[in-house]
Amino acid sequence: MTDSRLAVIVLAAGQGTRMKSRTPKVLHRLAGVPLIGHVLATARALDPEHVVAVVRHERDVVAAAIADLDAHAIIADQDEIPGTGRAVEAGLAALPADFEGDVLVVSGDVPLLDAETLASLLARHRGAEAAATVLSAVLDDATGYGRIVRDVAGTLDRIVEQKDATEAERALTEINSGTYVFRSAPLREKLALVSTDNAAQEKYLTDVIGLLRGDEHPVAALPAGQSWIVAGVNDRVQLADAGLRLNQMIVRGWQLAGVTISDPASVWIDRTVTLEEDSEILPGTQLKGATTIARGAVVGPDTTLTDCEVGEGARVSRTDGTLAVIGAGASVGPFAYLRPGTRLAADGKIGTFVETKNAVIGLGSKVPHLSYIGDTTVGEGSNIGAGTITANYDGVKKHRTEVGSHVRSGSHNVFVAPVRIGDGAYTGAGTVVRKDVPAGALAVNHAPQRTVPRWVAANRPGTAAAEAAAAASETDGDRSTE
Ligand code: UD1
Ligand code: MG
Repeated sequence: MTDSRLAVIVLAAGQGTRMKSRTPKVLHRLAGVPLIGHVLATARALDPEHVVAVVRHERDVVAAAIADLDAHAIIADQDEIPGTGRAVEAGLAALPADFEGDVLVVSGDVPLLDAETLASLLARHRGAEAAATVLSAVLDDATGYGRIVRDVAGTLDRIVEQKDATEAERALTEINSGTYVFRSAPLREKLALVSTDNAAQEKYLTDVIGLLRGDEHPVAALPAGQSWIVAGVNDRVQLADAGLRLNQMIVRGWQLAGVTISDPASVWIDRTVTLEEDSEILPGTQLKGATTIARGAVVGPDTTLTDCEVGEGARVSRTDGTLAVIGAGASVGPFAYLRPGTRLAADGKIGTFVETKNAVIGLGSKVPHLSYIGDTTVGEGSNIGAGTITANYDGVKKHRTEVGSHVRSGSHNVFVAPVRIGDGAYTGAGTVVRKDVPAGALAVNHAPQRTVPRWVAANRPGTAAAEAAAAASETDGDRSTE
């Protein structure tokens, strides 16, 4: 049955001038995935025999990105003749010579189009044994789009581009979405007849519709259920609009899957993120890349995690993290900065104003306040005092700090790497640890404190400090002379 064969042609050769960008339009990202990635994924969901992507503008960059997103996609190069019709010809030429069947044409810049819409378009096309079936939409403002022209009986007659339309045709509100299914044989045949004799001097794919009309097989246009599904991205305003829609769908999907999200409008979740039931995402949070959130974890408010793993029941508040692993029951933030290579084990803590990088922090160990911990391993059950800094960089190379288990380091320490602090060791407040501390030892290196009585009265007379000191000596007795 030749009818059941399917090829998808994705058009991605256009320049995308209106994006005003050095990045090719189809590589701009939406929910963490390039525009064309959404389209390729949707195309694949239909399980076609072939997916062909037509490229030209920034050919190598776009082709490499496509290969990355879909290793089996066939890359077809469009020549110097412009227009969507020429692009489809290039796509057809890249199919195996014996391919006969249905050809679904989609644009690489229509990211919200879903597989269900395409599947029903295909089903209608096959059911009607049509030569072509166009997905249309009815828009309040049809400016810029090709218009669907129907005859008195309401049958699709042709598509006219905005640039070539009469006043009356421009008033039509049903537009061509740029998504179609064609039978391959009549498509090939009619495309060969299409010229570039039009306002844009391009070979229009849309001209095929008028040429097919009157042939033995019918052509039809079907309006999409909701018009935003077919919205194309031509500039950055439309990119943001599509991003908002997509995010709404993603967030809603996770809510229905059992994730608590009280303020959906302020939560942004990439398509590539996964969340488990009974996790909770608080307002102002962005979850990006390959981030995963386990059951019972609470993330946010105001947190951005990229490629992070958050364990069961963990708590992450006002944090920026990239490539970090947060163990079950662990606590992070508020105001933490987790850089790549951070691995916080179960029940550990990375607290307030703490930055970590390449830091492996063991079971139940804590870095609670005001610290930089880089290129470091910490064992289990250790507590790193407030304001501790690992001096990991000697100006040329990075060095490691190794802290054992059940260590108690004092406040405001500097660990000058490379250095090791043994299991169960203590360090005093303000210690600069330059030499290894053996297990169970105490390391202190502060100089004795020098106290000069009445220094303020002698050196800062008439200041508020001097007055306060004088008042204190009257009420307390003059302890500074003791
Ligand atoms: C096209 C349709 C228009 C429709 C609109 C929907 C034609 C002639 N017009 O217009 O009826 O309403 O889409 O969005 O088809 N492309 C190529 N090679 C080219 C030119 C374009 O591959 O030479 C690709 C683009 O990368 C893009 C798609 O085709 O993915 C559509 O091209 P675009 O220039 O945006 O066409 P529109 O003018 O929007
Ligand atoms: Mg367009």
